[in-house]
Amino acid sequence: MNDFPQVETVEHWREQPEEYQEACRKLVISHAINELYGSRVYDEPAIAWAPNPYAKWMVCRVVMEEYGHHYRFFELGRDMGIPEEAMLPEMSEKAPLSIMDLKLTTWEEFCTIKMIGDLGEILHVEDLVQGSFHPLRNLARMTMPEEYFHSEFGENFCRDICQTAEGKDKIQAAVNLIYPHMPHFFGKPKSRNNEIYLKWGLKKRTNGEMREDYMARAKITVEKLGLTLPDINMNNYD
Ligand SMILES: [Fe+2]
Ligand SMILES: [Fe+2]
Repeated sequence: MNDFPQVETVEHWREQPEEYQEACRKLVISHAINELYGSRVYDEPAIAWAPNPYAKWMVCRVVMEEYGHHYRFFELGRDMGIPEEAMLPEMSEKAPLSIMDLKLTTWEEFCTIKMIGDLGEILHVEDLVQGSFHPLRNLARMTMPEEYFHSEFGENFCRDICQTAEGKDKIQAAVNLIYPHMPHFFGKPKSRNNEIYLKWGLKKRTNGEMREDYMARAKITVEKLGLTLPDINMNNYD
């Protein structure tokens, strides 16, 4: 059924065509940078915003896992010979995903980004779990249950906050702020990198398919809480 190379080890990866090697490097670098950047700008500051010890405990777990995600990709990258500075946002010229420019300042916004932002991370990781480069695939398999926990964490805390009318307004405002940035999270529909990932079986779906799936799942998620997604003009995302 599939005629992709199945690359079981980093040693075997070194024998693959340069296009394959470079595609794997790009995936590892992108995940290493974005996991670290997100941990710093969103997750770690939220320990201070969490309103009670239970919430702080849960956020600490999220923070631990997000830094762990960075570190796993970073370690794999190091094994692959990627220079460390290419995987550290402060030393690399590769910019983190544009959603990370969005400044969040409240507990409600943090819970919302976990609910609908980490749903986006789930989709990205899901796309890697059957990939042809097994060290990356295995790492995605380890990361997956943690991303599910983050999104569920967000949904559960958002549900609690929505118990009051004032809380519900705050979560709706946070959804309205964050959601319009999310379609960018999946890259441009016509992306050369995406074509190469599909060609080599590193990913399963096009950026456009992932984005559509994300939008449908985000809608179901917010509607469970009696919230709505803001209308967005999709022409801004192509
Ligand atoms: Fe993560
Ligand atoms: Fe996460």
